[in-house]
Amino acid sequence: MRKQFRHGLVPSATTTNDTSSVPQKAADAVFVPTQEHGFNNKVQGYDWSQGLDYGKLIGSYITTGFQATTFGLAVNEVNKMLAKRTEPIPENLGLDEFEEDLFIKRKSNCTIFLGYTSNMCSSGIRDTIKFLVQNKLVDCIVTTAGGVEEDFIKCLAPTFVGNFELKGSTLRESGINRIGNLVIPNDNYCKFEDWVMPLLDEMVTEQKEKGTKWTPSRIIEKLGRAINNPESVYYWAAVNNIPVFSPALTDGSLGDMMYFHSYKNPGLVVDILEDLKRLNTMAVKASNSGMVILGGGLIKHHICNANLMRNGADFAVFINTACDFDGSDSGAKPDEAVSWGKIKKDATPVKVCADASLVFPILVAETFAKHHFASISK
Ligand SMILES: NC(=O)c1ccc[n+]([C@@H]2O[C@H](COP(=O)([O-])OP(=O)(O)OC[C@H]3O[C@@H](n4cnc5c(N)ncnc54)[C@H](O)[C@@H]3O)[C@@H](O)[C@H]2O)c1
Repeated sequence: MRKQFRHGLVPSATTTNDTSSVPQKAADAVFVPTQEHGFNNKVQGYDWSQGLDYGKLIGSYITTGFQATTFGLAVNEVNKMLAKRTEPIPENLGLDEFEEDLFIKRKSNCTIFLGYTSNMCSSGIRDTIKFLVQNKLVDCIVTTAGGVEEDFIKCLAPTFVGNFELKGSTLRESGINRIGNLVIPNDNYCKFEDWVMPLLDEMVTEQKEKGTKWTPSRIIEKLGRAINNPESVYYWAAVNNIPVFSPALTDGSLGDMMYFHSYKNPGLVVDILEDLKRLNTMAVKASNSGMVILGGGLIKHHICNANLMRNGADFAVFINTACDFDGSDSGAKPDEAVSWGKIKKDATPVKVCADASLVFPILVAETFAKHHFASISK
């Protein structure tokens, strides 16, 4: 029936008793003529007759529709950040030569803020993050406590692939902890304790003897240097002067260690305000700013809020599974951040609704990695 309407074959009914014709009212309701429109991108998936070509397959996402199209838009958005990064910093901003804190010094024409939830470091996404940090492709990190400690723990002992169905009570009896379909033996945390306790002692001594003001980012830098392992995200962050902010650093195993340590060797003070000043200063002085945020909660808001201090980020990509119908910041679409001045009004931000473990490696492949490998082959 619909096909007939589209070809203009709609018979009109003259009377309601005329059973051979479609009622005019229904025909009018269904057949609304198409006006001139501005949609130019034809929906088109991958052409499998060309054989298997992963580059073209992923390239076809942008015209595939749904979250595949959103992914394609996210690729374009990150590539805009990287293009800005290759432009010179405008002369009127100067070289930031008087900034003594090398971690927050403006390093390019686009400061990229990377945020991720703890589970990203529990998963293999940690290795993609390490690639970005090792090659100085991002300028600033915000993560939660688990996102910090899981990186160090993996340098001491591995995390394993399990499955989502493993029973909590059985795992508990075996001294195994589950994160989704990953499992971590309790022993790993014992190894972490053995490694971190003497470092906490050193921090207390340094605070007492030299007056060092410890902040989460300074603690993460110290741990990054101490682990001295190129497998670690935070080893590279320390080496490359990339600050890692984690205002809720105590909400994880690291916090448990600090709690027990505070009985044995009390006195460690951790200042979160000093870190807020460092983070906000980076946003304020950025020539352009881009946000790449995996997941929601603290990490998403902390980066967006810092960008409010510069009247909004120029570029933004959110990848998360949260919805906005409940009013949560985790699920808020980028346009909500525009209303707060956290993203610029004329920006083209993208939210990809997906599990970042699926999406982030291919997003990096299509953007940062292409950019990086092209620049080193020149
Ligand atoms: N490995 C761990 O997850 C771990 C370990 C130790 C401590 N913790 C602590 O638990 C607390 C809560 O963790 P959190 O703040 O990192 O975030 P979270 O795990 O609570 O996630 C916040 C939101 O991010 C989104 N999200 C999470 N995983 C995602 C994915 N794979 N893809 C897309 N979106 C995703 C979801 O919308 C989720 O509601 C933190 O304080 C953290 O330090 C976590």
